[in-house]
Amino acid sequence: PIDPVRHIGNRSSGKMGYAVAEAARDRGAAVWLITAPVSLPEPVGIEITQVQTANEMKEAVARAVAQADALIMAAAVADYTPVRSAKTKTKKSERHLTIRLKPTPDILKWAGKHRKGKRQIVVGFALEDRNLRVNAEKKLTDKNLDMIVANSPEAIAADKSDVQIKTPDSSWIKIENATKAAIAKKVVHLAEKLYQAKLT
Ligand code: CTP
Repeated sequence: PIDPVRHIGNRSSGKMGYAVAEAARDRGAAVWLITAPVSLPEPVGIEITQVQTANEMKEAVARAVAQADALIMAAAVADYTPVRSAKTKTKKSERHLTIRLKPTPDILKWAGKHRKGKRQIVVGFALEDRNLRVNAEKKLTDKNLDMIVANSPEAIAADKSDVQIKTPDSSWIKIENATKAAIAKKVVHLAEKLYQAKLT
């Protein structure tokens, strides 16, 4: 929040995260969906926690991963937050308004480093408008992930999109012009395979 009326947000619709939650539920998983406000119907058969800020999301994710076999992090978390949020509505009195921002915690990076045991699977998404593979692979390594799902800004709020998926040991898997439900199903399937591989 900047003040009680305004906030810093982005154009993500939440469709991908909700599709992943539904795909995991349909595979028989007990799903905990941690979500910021979106205009999507609440999926049934899923535990839902609503959060408003990156800090609240970090707290909810920390509680969830303590008991989860996998974290699939599709949220478009704001990277910066105001240093101070005004308690009352900021009036239009200044010619220029400066809002000082500080970084939010990188929730996924934290989860990648503080896993519950060696078997927990941590999957991230990467939104890249250039050098998609190079930048996404850097996130795979830097955030200590088992899998990265990379897409481009055209995917935001779209019903169909292209994604590229990579694990530390695989080459790139390309999925083109697929519905978010189909992509989610593939992501859950791959996460399940990675989990099973860690069991053996
Ligand atoms: N992510 C997160 N916490 C943040 C920012 C991002 O957990 N504060 C997660 C996202 O949910 C996603 C992954 O990190 O799974 C990559 O997010 P993305 O926006 O592509 O990249 P950033 O790490 O924010 O880096 P940059 O904005 O520089 O590309």
